[in-house]
Amino acid sequence: MAPEESTEAVRLLPSFERRFLAARALRSFPWQSLEEKLRDSSGPELLLNILQKTVKHPLCVKHPPSVKYARCFLSELIRKHEAVHTEPLDELYEALAEVLMTTEPTQCHRSYLLPSGDSVTLSESTAIISHGTTGLVTWDAALYLAEWAMQNPAAFAHRTVLELGSGAGLTGLAICKTCRPSAYIFSDCHSCVLEQLRGNILLNGLSLEADVTDDSESPRVTVAQLDWDVVTAPQLAAFQPDVVIAADVLYCPETVLSLVRVLQRLSACLKNQQAPDAYIAFTVRNPETCQLFTNELGIAGIPWEAVPHHDQKLFPYEEHSEMAILKLTL
Ligand SMILES: C[S@@+](CC[C@H](N)C(=O)[O-])C[C@H]1O[C@@H](n2cnc3c(N)ncnc32)[C@H](O)[C@@H]1O
Repeated sequence: MAPEESTEAVRLLPSFERRFLAARALRSFPWQSLEEKLRDSSGPELLLNILQKTVKHPLCVKHPPSVKYARCFLSELIRKHEAVHTEPLDELYEALAEVLMTTEPTQCHRSYLLPSGDSVTLSESTAIISHGTTGLVTWDAALYLAEWAMQNPAAFAHRTVLELGSGAGLTGLAICKTCRPSAYIFSDCHSCVLEQLRGNILLNGLSLEADVTDDSESPRVTVAQLDWDVVTAPQLAAFQPDVVIAADVLYCPETVLSLVRVLQRLSACLKNQQAPDAYIAFTVRNPETCQLFTNELGIAGIPWEAVPHHDQKLFPYEEHSEMAILKLTL
């Protein structure tokens, strides 16, 4: 590889790797830089390196992303190659042929690389909404909250964390792997979501509480069926949470009202005479829904403050969506 090619690879490869493993935001790949670099290079090394870091990455071979995603990615890679070179690159066509022969299952994998060098791999639905729930895929606010948590591990270290509406489990798994909580309670109301969540916890090498031997390095992990509309104050108090978190749970007025009611019940769950800290992350899709949330918090007597935006983006989520985290004083 020519020296300038290796410099470019250092910049391009991690970006392709991170985005492809997470199987998100195909448009935000550095296609332009790749095209420019391909114009300057004569050999196939850069594209072969990209193949190794994406479709042939050991994590992807073991836990493949969706077939549709891999097909779109490889087609784009071939387009970029063909725009510059007349000679076809067999490895690209072979990889595409392999993907084209695979039927799309209803589940796929997404892998998220953590700054520690570890990763979180999740089995997720290939459809954004399936089985009547949005909880079978990872939403951007879950990634945003996980980023914030990993930059603020002291908020979780040696504490009991209760997560509401955990969905596929990304935020909690990132916290369990990097922030040293003493106990982590994943929760959700939907039976399919809970089943997938348990599978994802085991897939990431964590044990569920019943299986745990006394390993003080790992948090005690449990999965609870917790419906905000029916859970009682004593049931919530039994979790003994020091911190409550939730991501992307403000998507319609009904869920906002249910969420505020459960937060109000949590404010009575004192541990060492203190109510838990609470952090709620969301994507600002509809300002009226966000306004409803802050209004309802006001009516419930729950003060809040916006957590300053963090600019260290670790995960490849949609560039243009506006994200927020509110810290509540329960
Ligand atoms: C948009 S998903 C977000 C999942 C995950 N936190 C994320 O950001 O990727 C909303 C989640 O909230 C859960 N949820 C909605 N209403 C709920 C309720 N009343 N009680 C408990 N969970 C609820 C859903 O089952 C779903 O898993």
